[in-house]
Amino acid sequence: MKKVFVKSYGCQMNVYDAERMADVLAPQGYVETADAEDADLVILNTCHIREKAAEKVFSELGRVRKLKDERAADGRETTVVVAGCVAQAEGGEIVRRAPVVDLVVGPQSYHRLPELLAKARETRGVVDTEFPVEDKFDHLPRPSRDKIRSRGVSAFLTVQEGCDKFCTFCVVPYTRGAEVSRPAAKILSEAEELAAAGVRELTVIGQNVNAYHGEGPDGRDWSLGRLLRRLAEVPGVARIRYTTSHPRDMDEELVAAHRDLGALMPYLHLPVQSGSDRILAAMNRRHSGDDYRRIIERVRAARPDIALSSDFIVGFPGESDADFAETMRLVREMRFASAFSFKYSARPGTPAAEMDGQVPEEVKAARLAELQQQLEVDRQAFNRAMVGRTVEVLFERAGRHAGQMVGKSPYLQAVHVEADDIAIGDLAPVEIVEAAPNSLHGRKKGHEGAAAPNAGRASAA
Ligand code: SAH
Ligand code: SF4
Ligand code: F3S
Repeated sequence: MKKVFVKSYGCQMNVYDAERMADVLAPQGYVETADAEDADLVILNTCHIREKAAEKVFSELGRVRKLKDERAADGRETTVVVAGCVAQAEGGEIVRRAPVVDLVVGPQSYHRLPELLAKARETRGVVDTEFPVEDKFDHLPRPSRDKIRSRGVSAFLTVQEGCDKFCTFCVVPYTRGAEVSRPAAKILSEAEELAAAGVRELTVIGQNVNAYHGEGPDGRDWSLGRLLRRLAEVPGVARIRYTTSHPRDMDEELVAAHRDLGALMPYLHLPVQSGSDRILAAMNRRHSGDDYRRIIERVRAARPDIALSSDFIVGFPGESDADFAETMRLVREMRFASAFSFKYSARPGTPAAEMDGQVPEEVKAARLAELQQQLEVDRQAFNRAMVGRTVEVLFERAGRHAGQMVGKSPYLQAVHVEADDIAIGDLAPVEIVEAAPNSLHGRKKGHEGAAAPNAGRASAA
């Protein structure tokens, strides 16, 4: 029996891909291990989005080299693979910089892992960063029910990959390629398999998930809203989420899905990046601050209890104090429940990296601190406002203390509950009694067993 260790960086897509890689390797006799020292095969599933993320890989490879040497001293072989977006962006350069690497494989070639590994056994330093014509999803084996179950009651499901938006700061269109949507029938059958194995929450993912326009079973083009409607009917699926979306693709069908689908959680991650129209234009976001405000108004009208989350970049080239003040104004108006914020990182090959007016590091740091301070105030206020509310919680794991269970609120908050009659996969209404900085504490009210039908809309109110 051989063991594989996969470490993922970056976005949810990499988490999903890591599982698919493990699925491809399972028929080859590989079992997963959480312990790198124990692994015959080490896969680093990398992220190229910011310089820091990309550089992390090389420090990790330093550690992996030591490990490989130690294992070699015991007569054990270790194969080292770099996958993901750094693999796609840097290809053969990785092998030159880190000779410990046996194989570099881009995100579109995972289904070829077995043959690539066989090749790497003969010649070290194999590189495959093609965008093959065949659909990798058609060549990826499905995991067993036990395997699915072992991964938990909440699962990711890729429906769309790649991006055609070309925001001027972003590497994703280069590392993940052009937008491709999977046919709805394939997504639905994957969803059915997941649900049949006990998955209760599906997070539908794509680099630009609301740009989804896959072929429907009726031969027509389906939007994400249409797809979510069908996914909500899959028996056993109690909760649906989707990420990450772009403001330009928040169409009527998707907004209507928020109004109509009880299973669609009232939580929207919609990156805005900046509040300044000048900067948004330079970013090639192709929407203004007010466009974003109007979109949020529409979504809030459809689903008044919706909570918002976003991504921000500070210190984009040319960003003045006045531009940054516009971002702060937007943030104060929106009151985000949660958010990610970053200092602009110049990425080789992207248009923004060549722009005039690169912002000094200390200015970026000061703006980031100010922004994060406000976002944290808003997040805490949102969490505190949960106290006294009753929300449905999906239980995912046992807590640290005996009799304690941990689940997620509709708003992705961790909720701790003391109860001895809750099983993993149960949904139960919980009254929130306390808000700690990073989790909530609640008391279970009624109870809804694991075999319950789709959660009703009222459950989230
Ligand atoms: N597909 C997603 C974004 C993926 S990257 C979307 O369109 O929203 C996740 C976040 O990383 C982005 O929303 C952005 O805020 C941030 N990001 C991307 N490129 C960056 C860069 N060069 N520097 C700093 N942050 C960046
Ligand atoms: Fe990157 Fe923009 Fe595409 Fe998102 S929409 S992946 S930020 S290019
Ligand atoms: Fe990173 Fe690639 Fe995701 S660059 S954010 S792992 S698409």
